[in-house]
Amino acid sequence: MAYYCQECGYRSVKWLGRCPGCGSWDSLMEEAENFSRNKSSKATRKARLLRLDEVSAVETQRYVSGLGEFDRVLGGGLIPASLVLIGGDPGIGKSTLLLQVARGYRERGLSVVYLSGEESPAQVRLRAERVGAPEDLRVCAENDLSAVLATLEDEPPRILIVDSIQTVYLPELSSAPGSVSQVREAASRLLRFSKEREVSVFIVGHVTKEGALAGPRVLEHLVDVVLYFEGERSGPYRVLRAVKNRFGPVDEIGVFEMSDRGLIPVENPSGFFLSGGGGAVFPALEGTRPLLVEIQALVVKSYLASPRRTSVGFDPWRLSMLLAILEKHLGLSFYDRDVFLNVAGGLKIREPAADLAVCAALLSSRLDRGLPADMVFCGEVGLSGEVRGVIGLETRLKEAARLGFKKAVVPATARPPKGHLDLLKITRIEELQDHL
Ligand code: TYD
Ligand code: MG
Repeated sequence: MAYYCQECGYRSVKWLGRCPGCGSWDSLMEEAENFSRNKSSKATRKARLLRLDEVSAVETQRYVSGLGEFDRVLGGGLIPASLVLIGGDPGIGKSTLLLQVARGYRERGLSVVYLSGEESPAQVRLRAERVGAPEDLRVCAENDLSAVLATLEDEPPRILIVDSIQTVYLPELSSAPGSVSQVREAASRLLRFSKEREVSVFIVGHVTKEGALAGPRVLEHLVDVVLYFEGERSGPYRVLRAVKNRFGPVDEIGVFEMSDRGLIPVENPSGFFLSGGGGAVFPALEGTRPLLVEIQALVVKSYLASPRRTSVGFDPWRLSMLLAILEKHLGLSFYDRDVFLNVAGGLKIREPAADLAVCAALLSSRLDRGLPADMVFCGEVGLSGEVRGVIGLETRLKEAARLGFKKAVVPATARPPKGHLDLLKITRIEELQDHL
């Protein structure tokens, strides 16, 4: 037996409260070890060596699903014999998305098998009827992955959907389904199957913080493409994001709206994430597309010895850094305040360009000053309080102008975009106050 971190797969012979691999707390769980420590080094089969010029260089045809937002995130379609991991919170819509995608592939004559380890065939059918999946989609409700692959061996489909990796298992391993070793082994088995039989495989992985199911992070290096499905379960909008893609750009996003008939692609989503909640509006750039998001902050007096810092959708370390910068350069105290930060609509913002908007939201709540409703904020803030330029500023500002915003607080290097937008240029964070 050994202990494995359920987040990153770190192995330890004894239990530890904190994983030395990734720093998560309470993530190590005991698991049976599966590898045989076989000393004999005699290989049963030989590997094949190729000269690079023997390899055909034709760009392989991609499989298109017809769901434009989905195909775009994949880089223009699915590469044959590739492995795609789709991660996301439970209930976000992964199964729904894949059923719809399956329909698209079926309509284009590709054979698809949907392996459901979570739902019975009747439940899959019910959902399929809602989203209009085809009658002839082949479904398999089975948790034993070896059995499934043995069945598919003779007549492999072009596309296999495994929903989810945490609910399938290999009976020859003694560890429980959902454990790191099961998840990793099942995925490598799928990888081999995919490359040998030329099957593209979608692997669904639930991401949970509770540690009961293995985080799909252990799979990221194994697969060709990693997509994350994010959004607020209670809200209608969902964002599909590529975080790794061996065959296309990352940072491209696909936006969908969850309806009673499944997911509807949103082709022009730039204003959809504005909630009108009085937060600071940040013109984000997702891949090539501008997207306006609202950043909300609440700063209140704290009664705790160490005040709360809660951040949803924005890096908590970066929030701490910005608070320190505001404290140092504007002389405002935050050490005695609880700070809550939220990106509206369940989006995750990873760009430093959001710094100015975050600072504006924090200042607005700290000083009890409302933000002008027609203003956007865009710029990176450095440790010494300087405001730095960002990439793609023109595209961002053009979109803000198109959506009716009138003013933008931006770094001094900014050039005015086409359209009517007043630029309020600042070089230091102190100047932000003057515009609130
Ligand atoms: P689901 O695809 O089951 O999520 P996941 O596979 O990521 O766990 O989606 C579940 C949610 O989506 C569920 O709360 C119901 C909702 N939903 C709709 O609103 N409309 C629909 O047409 C479908 C199929 C689901
Ligand atoms: Mg599901």
